[in-house]
Amino acid sequence: MNKSILIVDDDPTICYAFKKTFKTLNYSTEEAHNGIEAIDKLNKVKPVLIFMDITMPEMDGLEALERINKSNPQIPVIVITGNGNMETAIKAMQIGAYDYLTKPLDIDKIRITAQRAIELTQMKNKIDELQQQLEKKNEAIGTNIIGQHFLMQDVYKKIGVVSTTPNTTNVLILGETGTGKELVARVIHEKGTHSDQPFQAINCTVLPESLLESELFGHEKGSFTGAERRKPGKFELAGEGTLFLDEIGDMPVNLQKKLLRVIQERSFERLGGNEQIKLKARIIAATHRDLKDAIKKGEFRDDLFYRLGVIEIILPPLRERKEDIPLLSNYFLQKFSSRFGKKYKGFTPEVMEVLTEYHYPGNVRELENLIERAVALERGELISLQSLPAGISATNENEIIDIPILNKDFTEAKKVVVESFEKKFLIQRLEEVSGNVSEAARISGIERQSFQRLMKKYNLSSEDFKL
Ligand SMILES: Nc1ncnc2c1ncn2[C@@H]1O[C@H](COP(=O)(O)OP(=O)(O)OP(=O)(O)O)[C@@H](O)[C@H]1O
Ligand SMILES: [Mg+2]
Repeated sequence: MNKSILIVDDDPTICYAFKKTFKTLNYSTEEAHNGIEAIDKLNKVKPVLIFMDITMPEMDGLEALERINKSNPQIPVIVITGNGNMETAIKAMQIGAYDYLTKPLDIDKIRITAQRAIELTQMKNKIDELQQQLEKKNEAIGTNIIGQHFLMQDVYKKIGVVSTTPNTTNVLILGETGTGKELVARVIHEKGTHSDQPFQAINCTVLPESLLESELFGHEKGSFTGAERRKPGKFELAGEGTLFLDEIGDMPVNLQKKLLRVIQERSFERLGGNEQIKLKARIIAATHRDLKDAIKKGEFRDDLFYRLGVIEIILPPLRERKEDIPLLSNYFLQKFSSRFGKKYKGFTPEVMEVLTEYHYPGNVRELENLIERAVALERGELISLQSLPAGISATNENEIIDIPILNKDFTEAKKVVVESFEKKFLIQRLEEVSGNVSEAARISGIERQSFQRLMKKYNLSSEDFKL
């Protein structure tokens, strides 16, 4: 570690006294005899601390202090005043001195002040560094919720409330696909008091029931064929952090019952084990499904619904908060411009109009994908209409019905309309997700295989939708 102290004084006896004092403390010292020399030496010496006399020839201490503060604000400067003049002392502190000492100098005081300055500064620099890392991390995972609409203000308020509650308070996030449910879950985690603990997520749609159960509960060695060693489940892995149960509406009813018990008792057993393990994490569940409807159909337990939704957060569809579209568009434009190393000034007015008018079945995710695609395609300074997918400016909910029906035979006419609809639908979904077939099928609520069959029928290739 660099342990140099820079002494700036035109009096060599003072410099000598400092040198002797700090030698015993294992610091090396460098001297400068006026402000200009001090600034010259700064980069070479890289001191952890500077002592600065005020009255010196060429450039005085206050001016040097001001300049050093601008160029190297992380280095603490202790000012030495000759006469204990109040005016000078106040001025020095206003400019940004760490502290000041008056002559005649007291060796013990110098030592204590110096050590405290160095330690505190190091700590502050470390905190700044961590803060920066955290900001970078947040940026990377995108934990920034954009939106000023009053419906979003409600969401922020609820997040604020949740962050003050203990982990036993469950949260249910409801909203259409792409409205930011997972994003909100992550922000709740980060704003909470256990943000240093794990955030574990599991999607209840993608796994078959038995696997989902073992992922959640974990299992003991030998609890089923293939269980070669003990494996902790998500309840355990989430520690005192957050367990995010995504697509809870698709959880098999049988498993819902088991989850309800865990939530009620705040404890669980690994599969094949009998040790009671405490659940310490907060459960945040999310779904795009209408749970009340699912309850009516017997597909979701109402007791679980009430247990999960101690705090319920409803995310509005993007078309219900159109005012936020310009804000989000600019946010994504910046995000993708810097990612692709491009510089865009904004959108042409027509583009902004089209973007604001569109109804976004895929919500914010769809807007995000639209902008990403536009950034990749656009060659000009502003994002122009050419870089938007053809469908979005013309699309409105009535369009499907407007298709001219030339054929008088009902079955034939229906076939034409349906096929036209199917093809448009597929194109639109594939455009939203840049050709990711699994994702397109998921958001359409169609099995991947059926989606692929339809793509084949209309000669569509996912390659054509990749960026
Ligand atoms: N308000 C917002 N501000 C900024 N980005 C957002 C916002 N809402 C959503 N996003 C972004 O949109 C994308 C989709 O969000 P997210 O995955 O959270 O949606 P979701 O509701 O979980 O969707 P699904 O139901 O399809 O899983 C993410 O990239 C997310 O960062
Ligand atoms: Mg999600």
